[in-house]
Amino acid sequence: MTDSAAPIDATTTQAWAELTAHHIVFAPDLRTWFAEDPGRADRLSLPLADLHVDLSKNLVTHDILASLVRLAAQTGVAERFEAMLSGAHINTTEDRAVLHTALRRPADAFPALVVDGQQVDADVHEVLDRVAAFADRVRSGEWTGITGKKVTHVVNIGIGGSDLGPVMVYEALKPYADAGIEARFISNIDPTDLAQKTTGLDPETTLFIVASKTFTTLETLTNARLARDWLWERLAAQGVDVAGDDAKNDAVAHHFIAVSTALDKVAAFGIDPQNAFGFWDWVGGRYSVDSAIGTSLAIALGPDVFADLLAGFHAVDEHVRTTPLERNVPVLMGLLNVWYGNFLGAQSHAVLPYAQQLSRFPAYLQQLTMESNGKSVRWDGSPVTTETGEVFWGEPGTNGQHAFYQLIHQGTRLIPADFIAFANPAYPLADDGRDVHGLFLANFLAQTKALAFGKTAEEVEAEGTTGPLVAARTFAGNRPTTSIFAAALTPAVLGQLIALYEHITFTQGVIWGINSFDQWGVELGKQLALQIAPAIEGDADATAAQDPSTRALLAYYHAHRR
Ligand code: F6P
Repeated sequence: MTDSAAPIDATTTQAWAELTAHHIVFAPDLRTWFAEDPGRADRLSLPLADLHVDLSKNLVTHDILASLVRLAAQTGVAERFEAMLSGAHINTTEDRAVLHTALRRPADAFPALVVDGQQVDADVHEVLDRVAAFADRVRSGEWTGITGKKVTHVVNIGIGGSDLGPVMVYEALKPYADAGIEARFISNIDPTDLAQKTTGLDPETTLFIVASKTFTTLETLTNARLARDWLWERLAAQGVDVAGDDAKNDAVAHHFIAVSTALDKVAAFGIDPQNAFGFWDWVGGRYSVDSAIGTSLAIALGPDVFADLLAGFHAVDEHVRTTPLERNVPVLMGLLNVWYGNFLGAQSHAVLPYAQQLSRFPAYLQQLTMESNGKSVRWDGSPVTTETGEVFWGEPGTNGQHAFYQLIHQGTRLIPADFIAFANPAYPLADDGRDVHGLFLANFLAQTKALAFGKTAEEVEAEGTTGPLVAARTFAGNRPTTSIFAAALTPAVLGQLIALYEHITFTQGVIWGINSFDQWGVELGKQLALQIAPAIEGDADATAAQDPSTRALLAYYHAHRR
């Protein structure tokens, strides 16, 4: 059923009125709050599966947090989460269920999930089992290229959710890659991407995965055709007979598989439907890494690693479902974001992993959070009543420290930041007997401490500084951070981290009353690109139809194109 009931307007709730009142007299003072409340760190450090989440350095008092929790209750966050889990069509504009949580339910979950007549658990596990069996064949060498050689490289061709999740997880879990298979990822329609990512590949040992939910995406289909041409050309150059149609098709059958919800279109592209893995329209692109979209991961990292990743997601789903709002970590983090964005004026949110393996995590979160919550209308079509969404960004520490942290520490804007760190590194190295990872972690702790507590003018002067330098060296503090700590970056922990942010995003979406599961905002640009493409090729009518600025840019292009 479509769930089109009007959302509760958060700004009309009692909790919103309380928060407005708190804001009027708000004077953040983390130094005093910690000094006067020795239990603050313990009380605000919460477990989330294998994660230890320290919320204590956020700019909230007990009363503010209590009002935020009431805001979640009064806007029906838990009820909407239940509606999502049960398959209600909460994606109202597309009249779809939203069931990424079903992708990670155990096979024997009880009662079995049936939605719109579909046996969801059975279907999910049928595909998962096929992906795992296929991955095992590739990993063992049973599946070969056209000349009988074992696959050494899988190349995922996809974009957005069909790329960002797989590439992020692969980078994060590379230490688990144990089958001598490297994964590469082609996404951009800029031909540079394909040209560079195919460099050094042997066509006889390369397997392409065309990953596209819709199998209509211009970038992906263009790159898939380019990759197919590359395969035929390079095989021919290596003396493999791909002259006739049958030989060409045979090469595609050995070197291309697909992941999509549109298996008919996969077949039309020439990929054998037996070598295609499906998923369903109730999986949003940015929520799809735990579907067959993760096939490159199952191959490169192994089906067991993929299963552990899914178990991590599920543990967090269960936490959200069963934990009271006041201890529900994703809900609390979503509420804090609402406090910062709607009351304290924050416009962006930094995610700063102290783990090089999570270098693509901020980029992944950009699609998850910004494509989900960058909306100006609510799920019933009415305008939003508050600011929505925030700009997510970040880089791994300590690289960020030497680049943009200055602005977070001493700039004029409020930038809440999440720090993510692990007690144990993937690669334990020592420098002259000193644990390098320990030094890395000292930076994580130092940064969150400096941001919270700053450095007063008196402290600066006590070090001997005088004159105008005192102000320049003073740190105001009260810059909010959340510290997310885990023992190690295992597959399960990574699944937990991703699910954490999925449900933070969900919480904010419900409070703002928006549908976090459509993305109409990307359509206009796609349409216009198709209209402008003929003008790029010199079509006079298409050029004349453009606005003056676009016409001038086209003229520049034609004047400078070699
Ligand atoms: O950018 C819009 C979008 O639809 C994303 O939501 C999606 O992840 C991406 O394009 C790719 O879509 P597809 O998997 O259908 O190729």
